[in-house]
Amino acid sequence: MDLGFKGKVALVTGAGSQIGFGKAIALLLAKEGCDAVAVTDVNVDDVNKTAEDIKKLRVKSIALGADIMKKANVEAMVAKVIAEYKKIDVLCNVAGAILQKDFTPIDEQKTELWQKQIDLNLFGTMYVTRAVVPYMRKQKHGAIVNIGSGSSSQFSFGVQVYAISKYAIDLFTKELAFQEGKNGIRCNCVSPGPAPTNFGAVLREGAPPPPKEVYDKMHEEMMKAFPLGRMGNPTDIANMTVIMASDVTWYVTGQVIQVSGGNVM
Ligand SMILES: NC(=O)c1ccc[n+]([C@@H]2O[C@H](COP(=O)([O-])OP(=O)(O)OC[C@H]3O[C@@H](n4cnc5c(N)ncnc54)[C@H](O)[C@@H]3O)[C@@H](O)[C@H]2O)c1
Repeated sequence: MDLGFKGKVALVTGAGSQIGFGKAIALLLAKEGCDAVAVTDVNVDDVNKTAEDIKKLRVKSIALGADIMKKANVEAMVAKVIAEYKKIDVLCNVAGAILQKDFTPIDEQKTELWQKQIDLNLFGTMYVTRAVVPYMRKQKHGAIVNIGSGSSSQFSFGVQVYAISKYAIDLFTKELAFQEGKNGIRCNCVSPGPAPTNFGAVLREGAPPPPKEVYDKMHEEMMKAFPLGRMGNPTDIANMTVIMASDVTWYVTGQVIQVSGGNVM
């Protein structure tokens, strides 16, 4: 099947983490035929490594440092992509993080943290999208894929304001899809279940890893909630994200797609 990426330019945020979803998505876009894949992250050293790996596939790439919470940073980053490649056909909004331990009681949660969580996961994604959409409108096509989270429909994770920020991403996806469909722009959301990337670091912070027998028991209990019998990985998320960014899903917009081995249905 031709995914239609020939001649396309993609921009992937959060592509610095060497074990994260963003890098896996950027590499797959390159393998599937994009002409250029621009990658960005707040971590400049790491995103440079990602761009180098893309170039090894003989696909053009630039690495750009930007903190998506800073509007001016984001606008300068998008302007550089346009200066380099003249257009953006595909935007994957992957950058994000969880800033608070799960199951923190509400009266122990800090206002500053709530604000930062929403600024990062929601407004950060919106800043990048707002900067890119005018270019997509001009060419009358574009595919945007936001990374949400299964936690916006699975309350047992106990991640509260993080889940709220991702629920807002689900709604933003639909708002944008409705608004921009007439301009040839699609917007969908891929919603991962838990996967071992750098993402979980804050959840484990301060707590030593449990002894092996405790871990094995916890793992066994957790796997009961995964009908397909395993946690996800970056390849699972990259596969779905790239399909949603491709021309084969051209008639699909405003959807939130769970990629969690059935953990969220
Ligand atoms: N891994 C999971 O279990 C899981 C589950 C559901 C959703 N998600 C979502 O997937 C996305 C990717 O996370 P991941 O699992 O690859 O984690 P990761 O920590 O490995 O990668 C996240 C990347 O985002 C970057 N980033 C963080 N804050 C940034 C900022 N202010 N500006 C620019 N870049 C920033 C980080 O530097 C990092 O490279 C996130 O939006 C996360 O919320 C992850």
